[in-house]
Amino acid sequence: MRFIFRPFIKTGLMENLSANFKIQDVDLKSVAKEFGTPLYVYNSEKIVHQLRTLKTAFSGSEVKIKYAAKALTNISILKLLQKYGSDVDVVSIQEGHLALRAGFKPPQIMYTPSGVDFSEIIEGVNLGFTINLDSLSAIEKFGEKYKGSYPCSIRLNPHIMAGGNYKISTGHSNSKFGISIYQLPEIHSLVSKHGIKVNGLHIHTGSDITESEVFLKMAEILFGVARDFPQLRFIDFGSGFKVAYKEGDIVTNVYDLGLKLTKVFNDFCQSYGRKLEMHFEPGKFIVSEAGVLLVKVTVVKPTPSLTFVGVDSGLNHLLRPMMYDAYHDIVNISNPTGSQKLYTVVGYICETDTLGSDRKLNEVREGDILAIKNAGAYGFSMASNYNSRLRPAEVLIVNGEAKLIREREKLEDLWRNQPQIDL
Ligand code: LLP
Repeated sequence: MRFIFRPFIKTGLMENLSANFKIQDVDLKSVAKEFGTPLYVYNSEKIVHQLRTLKTAFSGSEVKIKYAAKALTNISILKLLQKYGSDVDVVSIQEGHLALRAGFKPPQIMYTPSGVDFSEIIEGVNLGFTINLDSLSAIEKFGEKYKGSYPCSIRLNPHIMAGGNYKISTGHSNSKFGISIYQLPEIHSLVSKHGIKVNGLHIHTGSDITESEVFLKMAEILFGVARDFPQLRFIDFGSGFKVAYKEGDIVTNVYDLGLKLTKVFNDFCQSYGRKLEMHFEPGKFIVSEAGVLLVKVTVVKPTPSLTFVGVDSGLNHLLRPMMYDAYHDIVNISNPTGSQKLYTVVGYICETDTLGSDRKLNEVREGDILAIKNAGAYGFSMASNYNSRLRPAEVLIVNGEAKLIREREKLEDLWRNQPQIDL
């Protein structure tokens, strides 16, 4: 069954951009003027709203939200989420250090690395993180080193194909992630051989999942497995909640899912004999819609077939359109009343670099500012210096004020780490 979910996400107070292109009454054109372009701008209210939405949706169980830092790792964003009661999910020691700097306590930090050197897992233990292991080899080494002295969680691969794009589907049989549920006998034999204390089970099947049924299927699998791990404290359902990228998009109905999942979860806890925590690790759901990338139009270039709009940014700053064919809505905030025309918006990178094809935009003039929406998740965090371009600044709108939370890179940043040798 599919649901179109609107009430909280697309309307009213929590529409991220108001009709006159303001965030918390701050005019985006003036933000672009003050801080320059390209510029990532985030709405703190929207981020907090999304966190609260999830907490409410799953309030029928003891839920913990572990924000997936990889979506947007700026320390001020992490601090904001920490302040409003989120935990955090990290995939590298480096993300873990950023989370610590933001004020998270080590046990609040769920560390789920994929195929890393065991020394990085030792580092995670030394820092006091909650450890999530995703291979038999890691469990073996962990057991040999820690026996039952430090608990760990185990990431399973349920063999479920889900997610909006093959590149971000992580729970199918050909995915590198997790340990196949068909390898449970091996897991159990390692656990009993070393006396490992398994405090959690985890599955993350992918990103952009619209159907509640995928999560419910995942839960069924986890519950079947969980009975044989008597020392659990939590079950982690990963993430993959889909948000709207354009008007009318089908999104995950988290309220519907909340009702159904908390019911089966609570039933399971009763038969398990103890209340467990229900964990989620949302990235996109929390920050995607809260962010816009502001870019300046550098050239309007009509050709015999179409009209290109060139901007002072590209796939080096927002990789998603080229990497996943992702759709990001684009609006011309400099010409709100202009007549609409068809454009293809392209970046300045020297290869095909399309940010949006065949878009109806209010007439675009050179110098106009365009806002590219849904840029909060996997925007800045996937940005690079390709073509030796500098990465943008980041601004957070908080309490009705625009605050710089990351400086724009400078030319010197490009050669700072390059020792000059004599040739
Ligand atoms: N937990 C784990 C273990 C993950 O691997 C991920 C995302 C998440 C949570 C958060 O998933 P989300 O709520 O954001 O869907 N760069 C891609 C998305 C990659 C997701 C990787 N893992 C994109 O821009 O669509």
